[in-house]
Amino acid sequence: MADNENNNKGEQNKHLVYICGENERFLNQLITVTGPFYNSVAFDDTSVLLDELETQLPKTLIVDADKAHSNAISTISKVRSHFKSDRVPILLTISASREDLVTEANKFSGITILDKPFRPIQLFNAISNEINANIEASWDLIEPIQREALKLTLSSYNSIANMIIDGEPLDYNNMAESCKPLVEAVKNQNYHELLRGLRDYDNYSYVHSMRVATFLSLFADAIGIRGEDHMTLTTGGLLHDVGKMLLPYELLNKSGRLNEYEFETLKCHVAYSVDFLYHTKGLPKGVSIIAGQHHEKLDGTGYPHGLSGGKLNQLARMATIIDIFSAMTDRRTYRESMQPEQAIALMSEMTGHLDHKLLSTFREMLLDSVEKD
Ligand SMILES: [Fe+2]
Ligand SMILES: [Fe+2]
Repeated sequence: MADNENNNKGEQNKHLVYICGENERFLNQLITVTGPFYNSVAFDDTSVLLDELETQLPKTLIVDADKAHSNAISTISKVRSHFKSDRVPILLTISASREDLVTEANKFSGITILDKPFRPIQLFNAISNEINANIEASWDLIEPIQREALKLTLSSYNSIANMIIDGEPLDYNNMAESCKPLVEAVKNQNYHELLRGLRDYDNYSYVHSMRVATFLSLFADAIGIRGEDHMTLTTGGLLHDVGKMLLPYELLNKSGRLNEYEFETLKCHVAYSVDFLYHTKGLPKGVSIIAGQHHEKLDGTGYPHGLSGGKLNQLARMATIIDIFSAMTDRRTYRESMQPEQAIALMSEMTGHLDHKLLSTFREMLLDSVEKD
């Protein structure tokens, strides 16, 4: 799929991040690093920043404290006293040696400190944390079962990231437990707020995995799959791309078409997922089939094994349909998301790739229960 086809339209989907400081070179570096992923705007003048804040609030304000001399604390003070709230989270980038300024900064609310020097991934994580803290707070307002579905799956998903780094195995029972509210919400056709709650969440892998889990769970429910098998499809959706946690941030979030090397690297996520899941205690076989075969195609042109026809069981065929549908309708920072009807129409033209009987069942299910966001 041409992910960058709506690049310009999609620019507005990027979260707005303001950066304020006196070191022009450092500001330019931050703009270069964050620009591909955020709508970043730099200010070297606090009064201009304050004027802009009157017009539009960013999702995060980065204030840089320069080594030699710094107006950072005065900037933070002006922003906080002017707006009388901490609705704009502030990320203070500062050298660890400036303990005096850190102490001063911590007197204000909603300040996170990022010690310099830092790696780009630390900056991305810090920005995401600020954005997501506000989104997670908004989940408190949604219907309890959907709120629980979001909170428990997010907690499980984040814990997997640590397990992969630490080389520890996942316990499937814990994963299934965390997916119970999601299964319940799906059974009650009570999942629209949950999908809306994911909309601006700044962790694409989690958002995509949750959307796959939700649609796969709905699909399973629609064709009469119940009990443990229903749970297998739901957890399988959440875990299907788990190996992507081992891939670089820049690759997973690249806005343009991937070059050949990048695409080969991306393909490795399937083997990484299967390897990780192999060590999972109590894992149903169906989950590893979903993770291992969701990029295979009926005519044998998929990856990693080029499996075809009868070698692809129903779980893999369902997972492939849902993965493609979700990828097309996911909201990305660099393009508009596709409408469900348009995605189904394009998938119907993918002759030889997909199980069209299952695709038309999925289409009917969607017509009955269209995602209303
Ligand atoms: Fe995948
Ligand atoms: Fe996927």
